[in-house]
Amino acid sequence: MKAIRIRHPATLDSLELVDMAPPPPPGPGEIQVRVRASSLNYHDYSVCAGLIPTADGRIPLSDAAGEVVALGEGVSGLALGDLVIGTFFPRPIGRHVPGSVFALTPGDGADGYARERINAPAETFTRAPAGWSAEEAATIPCAGLTAWRALVVDGALKPGDTVLVLGTGGVSIYALQIARAAGARVIATTSSDAKAERLKALGADHVINYRSDPEWGKTAFALAGNGVDHVVEIGGAATLPHSLMACGFGGHVAVIGGLSGYGGEVPTVLILARQLRVQGLLVGTPAHQAEFVRALETTAIRPVIDRAFPLADLAEAFRHQLSGRHFGKIVVTL
Ligand SMILES: NC(=O)c1ccc[n+]([C@@H]2O[C@H](COP(=O)([O-])OP(=O)(O)OC[C@H]3O[C@@H](n4cnc5c(N)ncnc54)[C@H](OP(=O)(O)O)[C@@H]3O)[C@@H](O)[C@H]2O)c1
Repeated sequence: MKAIRIRHPATLDSLELVDMAPPPPPGPGEIQVRVRASSLNYHDYSVCAGLIPTADGRIPLSDAAGEVVALGEGVSGLALGDLVIGTFFPRPIGRHVPGSVFALTPGDGADGYARERINAPAETFTRAPAGWSAEEAATIPCAGLTAWRALVVDGALKPGDTVLVLGTGGVSIYALQIARAAGARVIATTSSDAKAERLKALGADHVINYRSDPEWGKTAFALAGNGVDHVVEIGGAATLPHSLMACGFGGHVAVIGGLSGYGGEVPTVLILARQLRVQGLLVGTPAHQAEFVRALETTAIRPVIDRAFPLADLAEAFRHQLSGRHFGKIVVTL
């Protein structure tokens, strides 16, 4: 079977397409999955490009969707042919777990899903939403679940809330869709006027170009009436001060990413004066994922897929992601 391995020193040019022996029949409690699709996250790029160190020969990619092709002894609740999706944190994370939080994360501390078949404990996969394609389902485990966790699990989003989403990457587009499905208003930012039109078509009530309006946080505050209730904060150093500025009293900032870096000054006074809740988060648990899948089946949400690349073109897919031309998710098919 085909797989990709990261060779040291890790760069996009050192990703290697290899032939591997397929796995043996699954052991007790395991399933064998024929992986059909994965999707790209900034985390995957960071591992493949050597920004996050990993083992020489590591198989990358944390997202997977595929069908169950064999069941080990004692597996219940799944059947041959079911479309299933991997989990970013196969075990719940918490204070009691020693070592790196990413120790078990596929494509980081453990081998990932850039391979055609895998044996894994059944509970480390969840089912995919009924009627979804593998390409669609592969967008759930990292980007989709992160947006769900930010707004619904941590944010307790409710109809009538106003949500600010930043840029048009995988997490932010999912967040826009979840917010709209929940009856919330959405203010979105982007660097591109063409993408602004697409954001409006997806239901954004207001779009701000963060390049031409450097005070976009103040603009979002005003557009919301008296500040937004939630920010899906993916930008980090350059965006966090503006995200805090956008918030109304008691607002919730889900601190998710650092596309512009992780340092920078934080206007603490805004957190104090507006009594904001600033909450960091890392993706979610298998239980959160099962809940999210159930929710997706009762909404009209379908992921926005920018482009699909074959596995052999993984480096080119990452270069497309780096270009920033994408809107939504970039998918890899196997
Ligand atoms: N904590 C977690 O659990 C978790 C989970 C998933 C992702 N993340 C992190 O979240 C971030 C986004 O991930 P992603 O997969 O959604 O990325 P992505 O799909 O690559 O998103 C890239 C888009 O973000 C926008 N962007 C880039 N720099 C920006 C800036 N300075 N201000 C505002 N928008 C900016 C751009 O949108 P426009 O082209 O429209 O300007 C760009 O196209 C990354 O830092 C990632 O590591 C964290």
